[in-house]
Formats: sequence, structure tokens, C-alpha cells
Amino acid sequence: MNIREVKIIEVAPRDGFQIIEKFIETEKKLKIIDMLINSGIQKMQVTSFVNPKAVPQMKDAREVVKKSIEKHPDFEFTALVPNYKGAELAIESGIKELSYVISASEAHNMENVRRTVEESFKELKRIREDFKSTKIKLDIATTFGCPFEGDIDINKVIKMIHTGLDIEIDEIFLADTIGVANPKQIKDVIRAVKKEFEETDFGLHLHDTEGMGLANVYAASQLGINKFESAAGGLGGCPFAPGAAGNVATEDLVNMFNKMGVETNISLAKLLETTDYIKENVKSNLSGHLSNVKRKV
Ligand code: COA
Ligand code: ZN
Repeated sequence: MNIREVKIIEVAPRDGFQIIEKFIETEKKLKIIDMLINSGIQKMQVTSFVNPKAVPQMKDAREVVKKSIEKHPDFEFTALVPNYKGAELAIESGIKELSYVISASEAHNMENVRRTVEESFKELKRIREDFKSTKIKLDIATTFGCPFEGDIDINKVIKMIHTGLDIEIDEIFLADTIGVANPKQIKDVIRAVKKEFEETDFGLHLHDTEGMGLANVYAASQLGINKFESAAGGLGGCPFAPGAAGNVATEDLVNMFNKMGVETNISLAKLLETTDYIKENVKSNLSGHLSNVKRKV
């Protein structure tokens, strides 16, 4: 099955920035968000509402959201939340779609959000019940491998999807949080979940730790997956998952799909202007491919 169009969800302002130690001035974050929107990105995870002691870089979440919405009132902004309080704060700030993260691995869930998987689901249920008009996406972290538990049993992931759908969450993304998946595994997992959940749309959140990010995207696209989260410049990483490198780089994804004749609706030239700005203002050595090529496409 060949896809004709792909939806790329930019996560650099959340996954990309959260791992950067030095605080990035809010104005700079807003400028990058602006540039990304101007490049044609249609949806963006713009921050996370988390304990600022756990992730100090995200302490300006409210301001980022409020100012972003002020400037781009019709844009699809989403925010990652780990608990009820995060959902409340995000919704108060104007967010209409939440990414709620639960790990397939108990150990990583405890490390990341200090809850058992069951506790995380209980809280998700409460969020669903209390905020009926908010779209909720469930991110299943460490689906393809965990830094603490190693391999993840696919049946665990399937069980979590069942629980999520029972709660009536709207969408599911499978995340390779530390970037250990390979294309065959991606296909095996997607086939398994699609067999069990024929009506459900899945998206992927991939990291490029071992250099298989684009291969994994391609493998998934061959099975009809057309929603991917990626980060400009290949920024990214989870502070609570040792060994995680950056996300698949948005510009590399766009370049690959452009060359394959798959529509992204994103301007590569403008994206590369954004990665230049990121290099100058946030991180000088980016791990993406195209942002390091001198001859611009
Ligand atoms: N947003 C902002 N502040 C929050 C919050 C949220 N979503 N959730 C809790 N807090 C605050 C509480 O108000 C409390 O503040 P106080 O110390 O001033 O009283 C403090 O954080 C501790 O609250 P508690 O409920 O005990 O949380 P915790 O210490 O058990 O931490 C999480 C749980 C989920 C909040 C924390 O682990 C976290 O933020 N994890 C984020 C993980 C992450 O971002 N991972 C990367 C993305 S996958
Ligand atoms: Zn990630």
C-alpha cells in the first residue's frame, strides 16, 4: 500500500527542547514555532505541562501556548501531559488536543511520570470524563524497547490500546522513545496492532538513535501509516530514558517523501532556514542529515 500524502507533526518545541539544559528564551522558542508554521507544518506539539522541577526547560509552557495561539489562532497546537494537573493547565491555556504519555514498560513509566501504568490509565480516564471536548491522543512510550526492561511484549501494547479505546481516547501513537526499533520490527508491530484494531488509525513517534529512523518511517509507510512525529534538526530525547538520541529530523522526512512523490505540504527551503536558526540559537551541532549538507536542496 503506497501512501500519497503524509501528515508530519512537529515535536521539536517539546521533545527537542526538553533535553536542552540551558533555558531557551521564550521569545526564541516562539520564533522557531513561527518559522515552523511558516514552513507549512500543520500540527505541532508545542510544549509539555509537566513538573518544572522535572523538566525546567518547559517551565514557560503557559506563555508559549498563549502567545502561540494569539499569533496563530487556527493552528493545531498540542501539548504533552503526564497527569491530570498537566491536562488542566494545558486546557486552561487554550490547548485543544493533549498527548498523554504512558509507557509500555512499568519501569520507564515509573521513572518518567512516577506512576504505575494502571495509575496513569486511571488518571487518563478522569481526564477523559472531565474534558469531553478536548481531543486526547495516547502516546505509548517504549513500545519498541525500553532502556530498563529491554524488549517489550506486543501483547502488553495491545492491552494498553484496548484500555485506551475503552476510555474513548481519540488517537494512538506508538513511540520508539529510545530509538531502538528496526524496520522489520516496525512492520511486525504495525501488522499486529492493525490486525487487532482494524478501525483504528495509528501514528508513529520515532527517534533516530541507531540511524534507522528513516528506514522505519519508510517501512511503516508501506503499511499505510501516514502520520509521523518528528523534530526539526533531529533535536530530541527523553531526560528519563538513558540512551535516547534525537527524533527523526523533520527536514529529512520531508526530503525523503518529496523525492518519493508523497505530498507533505511543507517547504523544505523554509524548514532549512529554521534549522539554520536553531543552529545559531539553540544547538550548534544538529544530528539531522540535510541540515548539515552545505548544498541546500
Ligand atoms: N505541571 C506542572 N506542575 C505539576 C504537574 C504538571 N503537570 N504535575 C505536578 N506538578 C507539580 C505539583 O503541583 C507539585 O508542585 P509543588 O512541589 O510546588 O507542590 C510538584 O509538581 C510535585 O507534584 P506531584 O504530584 O507529587 O508530582 P511528582 O513529583 O510525583 O511528579 C510528574 C509526577 C508526572 C508531575 C513528573 O514526574 C513529571 O512532570 N514528569 C514529566 C516527565 C516528562 O516530561 N518526560 C518527558 C516526556 S515523555
Ligand atoms: Zn520522543
